[in-house]
Amino acid sequence: MVQKYKFGNPFRTDAVVREVALCEGEMPYMKKADGEKLSFSYHLEQEDEVYGLGENVRGINKRGWEYRSCCMDEPNHVEDKRSLYASHNFFVVRGKKCFGVFLDAPGIVTFDIGYTHLDEMRVTLEEPDAMVYVFEGDSVLEIVKEFRVLVGRSYIPPKWAFGYQQSRWSYMTEDEIYEVARMYRDNHFPLDSIYLDIDYMERYKDFTIDRERMPHFEEMVENLKKEHIRVVPIIDAGVKVEEGYSVYEEGVEKGYFCKDKEGKEFVVGVWPGQVHFPDVLNKDAREWFGNHYKFLIDKGVEGFWNDMNEPAIFYAQDRLDSTIDEIASLKGQNLDLSIFHKFMGKVMGLSNNTEDYKKFYHETESGRLSHDKVHNLFGYNMTRAAGEAFERICPDKRILMFSRSSYVGMHRYGGIWMGDNKSWWQHMLLNFKMQPSLNMMGILYTGGDIGGFGADTTEDLVIRWTQMALFAPLMRNHSALGTRVQEVYRFDNQDILRNILGIRYGLLPYLYSEFMKAALRDEMYYKPLAFEYTQDAYVSQVEDQLLAGDSVMTAPVFVQNAKGRYVYLPEEMAMVRMRSLDDYDTRRYPAGHHYIEAGLGETLLFVRRNKMLILSKGGEYTEEVKTDSMKALAFVEDKAVYEWYDDDGMGKDYSNPENIRKITISADGSCTCEGKPVNLEVEML
Ligand code: GLC
Repeated sequence: MVQKYKFGNPFRTDAVVREVALCEGEMPYMKKADGEKLSFSYHLEQEDEVYGLGENVRGINKRGWEYRSCCMDEPNHVEDKRSLYASHNFFVVRGKKCFGVFLDAPGIVTFDIGYTHLDEMRVTLEEPDAMVYVFEGDSVLEIVKEFRVLVGRSYIPPKWAFGYQQSRWSYMTEDEIYEVARMYRDNHFPLDSIYLDIDYMERYKDFTIDRERMPHFEEMVENLKKEHIRVVPIIDAGVKVEEGYSVYEEGVEKGYFCKDKEGKEFVVGVWPGQVHFPDVLNKDAREWFGNHYKFLIDKGVEGFWNDMNEPAIFYAQDRLDSTIDEIASLKGQNLDLSIFHKFMGKVMGLSNNTEDYKKFYHETESGRLSHDKVHNLFGYNMTRAAGEAFERICPDKRILMFSRSSYVGMHRYGGIWMGDNKSWWQHMLLNFKMQPSLNMMGILYTGGDIGGFGADTTEDLVIRWTQMALFAPLMRNHSALGTRVQEVYRFDNQDILRNILGIRYGLLPYLYSEFMKAALRDEMYYKPLAFEYTQDAYVSQVEDQLLAGDSVMTAPVFVQNAKGRYVYLPEEMAMVRMRSLDDYDTRRYPAGHHYIEAGLGETLLFVRRNKMLILSKGGEYTEEVKTDSMKALAFVEDKAVYEWYDDDGMGKDYSNPENIRKITISADGSCTCEGKPVNLEVEML
């Protein structure tokens, strides 16, 4: 059950797609608290757990910290941060009572979850306006589903986007891109796409191509497509200020950029230097910006990633000017403690200064609004611009789209990647824990930069991270300019990496099926064990194992030099220790704690009781993965039933009943299939 409450005069974010009648009177569970700001509190009992808030630091259970919804270009994903790139204001409390709350409020919201007082949760809004939805249900999964139905179906990418993808910020030329493709294909590492970072553009201008670096861009896209490799370019939020650049000139002429108080285009600095932000909260401007994606679609491009859309601000022009003046006035002075700190504070305060959000405006359906009031909607609406445009440009085709910044509602137009993580072991685990929290928000197509984006990686980290990402819908290796190169072919243990990628392509039919069912049924793909094994009192403490789809539990190794790990099994499961698609050993383990060995080249996965994992024979790209002859690893006590979803992976005929097959394996190993026949070799675990 969902109830809706209105506070002040909330802005229509379009996060919610279903009508809900407005409730009068007091909101249940969260009491309106005293104070200047709109604020709600809830007394936390010892057994209460708090889940949700999407992309954020710390654990799956969010108790014990203060989080802040304020989309930030934040490359330091460390414990004392309160915000990352997104604003996901939905959480579920489970314990004494079980309820969920979604605050549809585009300004800054603070979630103090037992931070100030261990036993109190307090949610505070900077702006007094919000639509608040309260959900009741018997379980977290039930509440999540209610929420997901309310906010609409998750974005569905093309099937090729579930293949392995290679990116790096520093592929400068066509030759370099061809070289990456050649290294993959010649060495038989599976691959489905290569990414273009900002350097493909002419002076970092959106919707342009640097013809000196990429003179035959269209030909390159086509040639690589022949090898089943898609080229995926980046699009940044800021449009370069440059005379003669048509996107800039058109935007100015039509009044589609965000303006300052005086009505002049607001100037900030990002990669190209001075840029303007397209006013994606203005419907016309959004349509205009979205239409530009056609420039690249016409050149054969089938996927994009939207970046810097918090929006990131290296500096606002006026703040830069005044800072330079103030710093200049310090010349010749003795920089003592206080002056030095002031100096540093000025410099550090140049970028992403929330005060600058008050200085530019959006023309919305509710009139002119300063950016600070709707800050968290920018990335969402930039991606919506693209998503809405794709519906106009190629309505029958799926286009890959994922974004850095997001808000609830954006999950209908694209996925996300988890931003600029580092080549740290702890970031691998952090990215893993974020997955279920993101799924709760409806963001299913997600993944972190494999190997780590910032800092130098190590070979074992890339291996373990690739294993960890085996079930991640977005499986992309990406790294920053200037860091150690980390494409899989750069390392000594090429066989290990080739085999891990081989396993991924073997898993594809299962992974795709589970992703699609989660999307089409408003369910979660990655689940914490606690959401499923609700009778197990211990299991909520397990945050380094996840259910990936319905059949499998995954338990990656997150520790350097570890040769195995402790695994907690809430019920008897069948372990599969994989070295490659054809080389694995299996063993049933009873419920409880177990230390299980997993050498560097070994991945642990667990098939749940009365479930099966279907495996293809793999391939070097998604189109090569055949499903006419597969294997099922089945752990059958009584009977295992699997609903296998498949489709052409490109179109949108999702509800065709032919897409679903029902496979049943009995305890004696016999197998039947409803729907189109399937050739399945059954291996009983
Ligand atoms: C941002 C993105 C990163 C990208 C870089 C250059 O830091 O998060 O993925 O490589 O910008 O475009």
